[in-house]
Amino acid sequence: MSRSIHQQGCRGAAWGWALAIALLLAGVPFTAALAADDAARTVLITGANRGIGFEFARQYADKGYRVIATCRNPDGADELNAFAAKHARVTVERLDLMDFESIETVAQRYEGQPIDVLINNAALMRGPDKEQTFGTLDYQEFDRFFHTNVRGPLKVTESFWPHLQASGQGTVATLTTGQGREGIPVQGFSYYKASKAAIDNFQLDIGRKGRREGIKVMVLMPGRVATHGEKPTSFFVPIEDSVAGMIRVIDTHSIKQNGKTWRWKDDPAGGS
Ligand SMILES: NC(=O)c1ccc[n+]([C@@H]2O[C@H](COP(=O)([O-])OP(=O)(O)OC[C@H]3O[C@@H](n4cnc5c(N)ncnc54)[C@H](OP(=O)(O)O)[C@@H]3O)[C@@H](O)[C@H]2O)c1
Repeated sequence: MSRSIHQQGCRGAAWGWALAIALLLAGVPFTAALAADDAARTVLITGANRGIGFEFARQYADKGYRVIATCRNPDGADELNAFAAKHARVTVERLDLMDFESIETVAQRYEGQPIDVLINNAALMRGPDKEQTFGTLDYQEFDRFFHTNVRGPLKVTESFWPHLQASGQGTVATLTTGQGREGIPVQGFSYYKASKAAIDNFQLDIGRKGRREGIKVMVLMPGRVATHGEKPTSFFVPIEDSVAGMIRVIDTHSIKQNGKTWRWKDDPAGGS
């Protein structure tokens, strides 16, 4: 396993040299050939094997980004692996939010390399169920939700903070549900909602640190997106529109707005 992951991890660099050599053969000067590859921006996405995370990987790859597409089980990530096989700038890495060692391993693998955009997308998203309903709460599930949805993205953000700093214009975006506390007005989603409210709240402090250290920090609401086989009605936002909208927000959010929560269709430049 670690061997194949290491091979995947090395592929981006190998591709960079291949591009540089191709440009050299085409008569482009050596420094310019290297700069062409260095110019590529890098995004790291958690939970990139399916749903909104996979769509982020697709859209950032289309924009020419190097994509570090992380997921907890690369061996089972068939669609993502097939996508990475066709896109040399997409690298698949194992990162499980419940397993801090896996987070540190990826952070160390990219030590010294700038990451321009970090998308905290992965989460445990489930409900309604009795384990999350007051009166029949299951406290093991409490731990699982808070480990995955709060501790996990916090650890990811801390571990990749130096990479975001190395970018000089790093951005960290964390996905949430309809404003954490107020969202989903029915019972049976308590852990999901509470864990999102908690991770949202952390972004206020992280945003203050980001303002001092040149890193943009925001919370994003994707809208209701049919990622679990729901029948898409007019209530749902098409996944392509949701992700394109969030990328627009990431691009236009200013550091002065750090810690703010945006809907996918907001316009930070317009102040909405
Ligand atoms: N879809 C919506 O309507 C909606 C609305 C509001 C907010 N959001 C938020 O948007 C984000 C993405 O939503 P989605 O609909 O794409 O969710 P999803 O389809 O349920 O996908 C969740 C992703 O998180 C990964 N994940 C779960 N536990 C993990 C762990 N311990 N370590 C690493 N990865 C883990 C899953 O990996 P596996 O495949 O291995 O399970 C999967 O890749 C989430 O943060 C969600 O809360 C979604």
